[in-house]
Amino acid sequence: MSKDALRPPRGTRDFYPEDLRLRSWLFDHFREISRRFAFEEVDAPIVEHAELFIRKAGEEIVDQLYHFELHDRHLALRAELTPSLARMLIARAGGLRLPVRWFAIGQNWRYERMTRGRTREHYQWNVEIVGEPDVTAEAEALAALTSLWDALGLPREAVRLRVNSRALLEEVLRGGVLRGREEAFAPLCVVVDKLHKIGADAVLDQLADPAGPVGLARDDARWVVDALSARSLDEAASAAPPDSPALAALRRLFELLDAYGIADRVDFDASVVRGLAYYTGIVFEGFDTAGTLRSICGGGRYDALIESLGGPSLPAVGFGMGDVVVSELLGELGRLPSPGRGVDDLVVPLDDARRPLAMRLAARLRGEGRSVELALGTGRLKRALAHANRIGAARVLIVGEDEAARGVAKVRDLASGEEHDEKIW
Ligand code: HAM
Repeated sequence: MSKDALRPPRGTRDFYPEDLRLRSWLFDHFREISRRFAFEEVDAPIVEHAELFIRKAGEEIVDQLYHFELHDRHLALRAELTPSLARMLIARAGGLRLPVRWFAIGQNWRYERMTRGRTREHYQWNVEIVGEPDVTAEAEALAALTSLWDALGLPREAVRLRVNSRALLEEVLRGGVLRGREEAFAPLCVVVDKLHKIGADAVLDQLADPAGPVGLARDDARWVVDALSARSLDEAASAAPPDSPALAALRRLFELLDAYGIADRVDFDASVVRGLAYYTGIVFEGFDTAGTLRSICGGGRYDALIESLGGPSLPAVGFGMGDVVVSELLGELGRLPSPGRGVDDLVVPLDDARRPLAMRLAARLRGEGRSVELALGTGRLKRALAHANRIGAARVLIVGEDEAARGVAKVRDLASGEEHDEKIW
């Protein structure tokens, strides 16, 4: 066996018990906030037909696909949950009661170039609201995100949301530099999304590359890059067409966020366009305010994806929030808990003759719903107490010769040190 084979592939993680306890703590919060917002949980296979994920707009996520041929089928590990959920919606399209409010927690695979907070597999809390064309859906999604952050104990000032509208950008460009070339809009967004990663000059070069998918004249490309610097709705309005529906939607969204009491946690930022081609309207990302990490979450409106996969025309809004970045941030802020094992009782027979009684006791306690470790060897009391402390048990129940004769166990409460006898059954 090579040394490599004994390690998880680069960019992937093993979860030891303490890691899994933390992951469960996080997922419990995903589920609890989903419950509070009345989202129903769904799941899908981690392997899909590769075709489901392959789009032609030059997105990184498509280049990073883990895919393979097996028995003449081209399959892929899912890179994101949204296409799978769209596929599930299509299969039930006739009988859906709209709006659908679904969530899923699943592992996604992307062959990324590894940097901080960027791994090759990550779990995502994925929320989708399908069938609602109004920005009330976006407001719901953003409120779910801030509720989660609060529940996780992230300080209010540590994370913020940035919101923009692809529809607004599209309105502006369709009347200007992309007139008659609407098909270049999705690839343009994919390029613009790299602004913070590769810088304005490189974005300009890619937008103006005559051999590239966008192919703007250089001055037009410069105009686009300049337009991305708007940081207020009023600034954005100056470039928007009169009576712009996209601008009106953004203004209404901020009113709704205000009603939820979260408008002050959300900034307008014209440079947020998202790197996935399917978004059509409002888009958003969450960031740590210190600016040291990649995005914590991202999402937006994608009104054409379901139809483009062969389904009906259904408006949709959703987001994905990964486990990696938020865990890094919580760790950095000293807010990661260390959840215990949750063992209630350690039952210890002091010799082999007392084992059957100890087993009966353990079975009774387990039947009552307690978490019980039965000591598998027999040993000295001192060693048993040390073990109980190590596993964080609340009580130790000792069955020795004297206790057995009286049909009881000696119970020690580890926090208080108090002892009493308890009947074995
Ligand atoms: P995304 O922006 O590709 O969107 O991913 C959402 C979040 O997943 C990111 O903000 C980040 O927290 C996490 N994430 C993504 N890639 C990685 C990685 N390589 N390592 C660690 N964390 C990562 C989507 O996936 C969309 N499907 C979200 C969505 C749902 N839009 C509408 N509905």
